[in-house]
Amino acid sequence: MKVAVTGASGFMGPGLVQRLLGRGHDVHVLARNIEQSLSRLPEGVTGSYFDAATPLSPDALADAEAVVHLAGEPVGQRWTKEAKHRIHESRVMGTRVLVRAMKEAGTVKRFVSASAIGFYGGTRGAEPLTEESSPGDDFLANVCRAWEAEAMLAREAGIRTAIVRMGMVLHPEGGALHKMLPPFRMGAGGPVGTGKQYVSWVHREDAQDLVLYVLEHPEVEGPVNVTAPNPVTNAEFAHAMGHALGRPAVMHVPAFMLKAAMGEMAKLALEGQRVLPKRAQEAGFTFRYPELEAALRDLLA
Ligand SMILES: NC(=O)c1ccc[n+]([C@@H]2O[C@H](COP(=O)([O-])OP(=O)(O)OC[C@H]3O[C@@H](n4cnc5c(N)ncnc54)[C@H](OP(=O)(O)O)[C@@H]3O)[C@@H](O)[C@H]2O)c1
Repeated sequence: MKVAVTGASGFMGPGLVQRLLGRGHDVHVLARNIEQSLSRLPEGVTGSYFDAATPLSPDALADAEAVVHLAGEPVGQRWTKEAKHRIHESRVMGTRVLVRAMKEAGTVKRFVSASAIGFYGGTRGAEPLTEESSPGDDFLANVCRAWEAEAMLAREAGIRTAIVRMGMVLHPEGGALHKMLPPFRMGAGGPVGTGKQYVSWVHREDAQDLVLYVLEHPEVEGPVNVTAPNPVTNAEFAHAMGHALGRPAVMHVPAFMLKAAMGEMAKLALEGQRVLPKRAQEAGFTFRYPELEAALRDLLA
């Protein structure tokens, strides 16, 4: 089938596009800079212009039968007032214009839209969280709630819609692991804050496989947590990093230092959620990397 993908050139996108092509699907990307986006993707992919602030013509979807929506302003940056606005608007307005175009186009039967486990809020301690758990009430939780609500409006047009709530996606090329690696490689890594906050991580290969699995299983609707089955505490995560790199990982970073360096965004590291992939496992998805040690061995080899 023809699949339109937003955010295809980012951290998750190229691997997903590869998988789609490998499964025989046609891919059409929706991007702010089509040429730049296509230059990062295999031959044969086509593209149309898409941004959150401009109404999207249904023609831009190029008769796609399915849409995967990954685009959004990066969250891992200092949360100034302007950055918070961009994080919120790129997701809420971006999803709104996309869903409107999908409804008008009439060709789309399947919609998979990204969200984040930030949906559950940052202060849930060791509470096991599944897709049925209640949302949190902080900046990211409210962004995720509004973003998901826009995506779910696609169902009004009979489009089977799933929300993939991403955990901390691990790969040295980008995301959180890329930022953590330099201090850990120097032996200057360690737990942050209390170290008791949970890290719901997922190997990027598993995350991309699971998004594809969800897309190809239209009976899977609503939220799906994209996290490995065995989340760990921040202290356990630091220990596993040290072990995988053969470096000490005992340099504790106190909360106040992280807050001074990163501002409010430090919450991403100081708070956490213990999220379980209940729906994915019920739907029959098998994780290649259910355990952190093996995932890090593979990623940092
Ligand atoms: N990676 C993670 O650990 C993680 C965790 C939780 C949630 N997520 C969510 O999962 C989705 C995919 O993750 P990712 O890591 O692949 O994302 P990413 O690389 O940060 O960004 C994906 C794409 O979003 C588009 N984009 C960036 N800023 C934008 C803006 N201001 N307005 C509109 N579009 C913008 C860009 O596409 P174009 O330049 O082609 O337009 C970019 O390639 C994102 O929505 C992300 O928030 C990821």
